[in-house]
Amino acid sequence: MPEMITLSVDGRSTSVAAGTSVAAAIAIAAARAAGPGVTRRSVGGQLRAPLCGMGVCQECRVTVNGRAHVLSCQTLCAPGMDVQTGGAP
Ligand code: FES
Repeated sequence: MPEMITLSVDGRSTSVAAGTSVAAAIAIAAARAAGPGVTRRSVGGQLRAPLCGMGVCQECRVTVNGRAHVLSCQTLCAPGMDVQTGGAP
């Protein structure tokens, strides 16, 4: 059984296996809530989601513990982490 850690994604408590990226945690949280799993909005207001998964496209930027523009695909989840996406209406 993998070690599980709990973090907050847009205010929703989410448990994931240790070693999970924040981008994956956002997708997991969205799947559990039947949500879209977006990370941010473009300047034009379009919903955006992780694309490359390797730190190139910048589409996965979120706010982590108050720090903006964190690449969620390059960041591992930590216990108690607060993740805010820009996907909320
Ligand atoms: S998904 Fe492309 S930089 Fe994170």
